[in-house]
Amino acid sequence: MTAATPQAKGWVQIATLADLNRPRPLIPVTLAGRRLVLFRDDEGQLGLIGRHCPHRGADLCYGRLEDNGLRCPFHGWHFNRTGQCVEQPAEPEGSRMHEQIRIPMVPVREVDGAIWAQVGVELEQAAAAETEA
Ligand code: FES
Repeated sequence: MTAATPQAKGWVQIATLADLNRPRPLIPVTLAGRRLVLFRDDEGQLGLIGRHCPHRGADLCYGRLEDNGLRCPFHGWHFNRTGQCVEQPAEPEGSRMHEQIRIPMVPVREVDGAIWAQVGVELEQAAAAETEA
């Protein structure tokens, strides 16, 4: 393994591509004691975000993969792969409340058939860095 591999930069393997090669590409992941959900969106990109909805705590592993993200099974809040809430169906039209809601996320990458997650960063910092990128 070279210094350029993800593990040398504080990355750990959490799954293989085969684990997500299914009709519903979504699996639960526990990383450093944090309960997360790994999924592939409509663009083929990976998301690794907190497993519990910030609204009422529903388990997003039971969410629906649709509209290029993950929709909560309880009341339909919709999150993209960065953990940003992009829709709240029960809010009035034009509401921007969703812009203030974000689920913690962990940077995730695919390398040589494996899926790696970055460890050692605060999830909120990772989300901010992803947004700025
Ligand atoms: S618990 Fe997720 S939208 Fe209500």
